[in-house]
Amino acid sequence: MMFSRQQIRHTRLHQIASGRRWMSVRPEERAPETRKKITIQHLLNMKRKHTPIAMLTAYDFPTGRACEAHGVDITLVGDSLAQVCLGYDATTRLTLDEMVHHCRAVARGSKAPFLVADMPFGTYEAGVDDAVRNAVRLVREGGVDAVKIEGGVEVVDTVKRLTTVGIPVMGHIGLMPQRQAIQSGYRVQGKSAAGALSLVDSALALEAAGAFAIVLEAIPHAVGAHITRRLHHAATIGIGAGWETDGQVLVWDDLMGTWGGHKAKFVRRFGDVRGEVERGVHAYVQAVRDRSFPSASESYEMPAEEAERFVGLAGARGDEP
Ligand code: KIV
Repeated sequence: MMFSRQQIRHTRLHQIASGRRWMSVRPEERAPETRKKITIQHLLNMKRKHTPIAMLTAYDFPTGRACEAHGVDITLVGDSLAQVCLGYDATTRLTLDEMVHHCRAVARGSKAPFLVADMPFGTYEAGVDDAVRNAVRLVREGGVDAVKIEGGVEVVDTVKRLTTVGIPVMGHIGLMPQRQAIQSGYRVQGKSAAGALSLVDSALALEAAGAFAIVLEAIPHAVGAHITRRLHHAATIGIGAGWETDGQVLVWDDLMGTWGGHKAKFVRRFGDVRGEVERGVHAYVQAVRDRSFPSASESYEMPAEEAERFVGLAGARGDEP
């Protein structure tokens, strides 16, 4: 059945005038509760008072909104984005443009939490000026408050320069996913006494360079606790670093159970999104196939007299039903 342009336009105007919309998905209308913006000073006060800091990754507007709405202190647009959202096989594939694009979406949803973005692999290693230029893009275009970079003493000059120009830096030591090839895979770090001491030195050097926080990934609990006690001006955020760090971080998809397969020892699943997705998609396809979706209550009706007129008009111009 064909409708003229005028008929379509008339229907659209009618829908707009009656307040109905074409979109089936639109942002929630309820205003989110207003939270005060989290600052570095607030985070360091939390460390001082031994109040655990909750950090969580987010990759888009809805995950950013969830961090906003449920009390997350630091939202991290992690470069795990590469694997969990974009389907790459490693974080090293992620580009700065892709990161900026996702930061903008998260920033629209996550307002109160302190917002940090990972600097993608290759955007800060070549030189300090390069790092500043790229970090400025993340702040100016991506809307983040701070950047995170992986590395110990070798990135100290970069941390100093970024903080000097006003860009807060979060460090990341221990297991560094951007260096998984040279670390021979995703392995626990600092298990030997010498390895543990070198992690302590890296943490102290990052703190002295001005880092406001340091992610400690996959290191023994004792080392995480020791570093946390040694640092006074930088908060430690653990992921597989035990229970005595100043805060914890998890990857959204690990926490939500979005994937099956290998689960790192430090991951706790707080949700079963994968199960829900499987149930939902399976039920939808079934319902489409057996025509139980959509039902009459999920369909639009015309006023009876318009329907009758419509049949008359369509018949008069020869449209066969
Ligand atoms: O990219 C990421 O998600 C991270 C977390 C593992 C801390 O860096």
